[in-house]
Amino acid sequence: MKSTIIVANWKMHHGPGQTRRYLEAFVPLMKDLPVDRQVIICPPSISLAAALEATGGTPIKVGAQNVHQQESGAYTGEISAAMLAEAGVEYAIVGHSERRQLFGETDSLVNQKALALQNCGVLPIVCVGETLEQRQSGEAQATVRQQVEAAVAGLDLQRLCIAYEPVWAIGTGQTATPEDAQEIHSVVRDVLRSFGDATAVPVLYGGSVKPDSVDELMAQPDINGALVGGASLLVESFQRICCYQSISPFGRGVE
Ligand code: PGA
Repeated sequence: MKSTIIVANWKMHHGPGQTRRYLEAFVPLMKDLPVDRQVIICPPSISLAAALEATGGTPIKVGAQNVHQQESGAYTGEISAAMLAEAGVEYAIVGHSERRQLFGETDSLVNQKALALQNCGVLPIVCVGETLEQRQSGEAQATVRQQVEAAVAGLDLQRLCIAYEPVWAIGTGQTATPEDAQEIHSVVRDVLRSFGDATAVPVLYGGSVKPDSVDELMAQPDINGALVGGASLLVESFQRICCYQSISPFGRGVE
């Protein structure tokens, strides 16, 4: 896997037409992207086919924003991991805080979804993160620790990605400081190590990542990429994020 992963989570934005227009403009801009960076676009399900077509033959990958945990059956409105794999989708976000908060997804369900994805060869991007109340009451580390433990049970660590997204930073314009993010990222790494050789698991940061905050965030030693919502909707700002400047003394990215 590449050493840095930048994921666009478009949420419920950009239908098939807009997806095509966006990617027509975006794909050519990525031709000079440093080779160690993987860009993944996660459009709404209805736009996956358009995204796959527009990125075919390019280094840009496509991911889903959700999946159902069952293989098939009477689950109106849902999509299975096997269907994603058949369509050529290589990644899927699971456990996003909006799914947890608005659709009642539990740690156990997130784990089942991630297992279903891995069984079909789709790489899960598992989201974790504390709420503002949990942070203010000093429970941020314990919350994330528990979420990661529950989510990764039984998973193959060689085919997994984690995204730490503090809930209070999502869509609020309030980014965690690079140091706060780094602190939780090292907790995530610690938990992963207790499950086996976790060196291959990229741990991304998400929550109001913007063109003006990405360089410093990416300079943190335990942050291996970004999950970007609002700032990925416009070609120019997402391009700037993908082309972040490596200011890291640890030498990730291209100087
Ligand atoms: P944001 O969203 O960048 O708009 O805060 C991130 C996410 O929800 O994945």
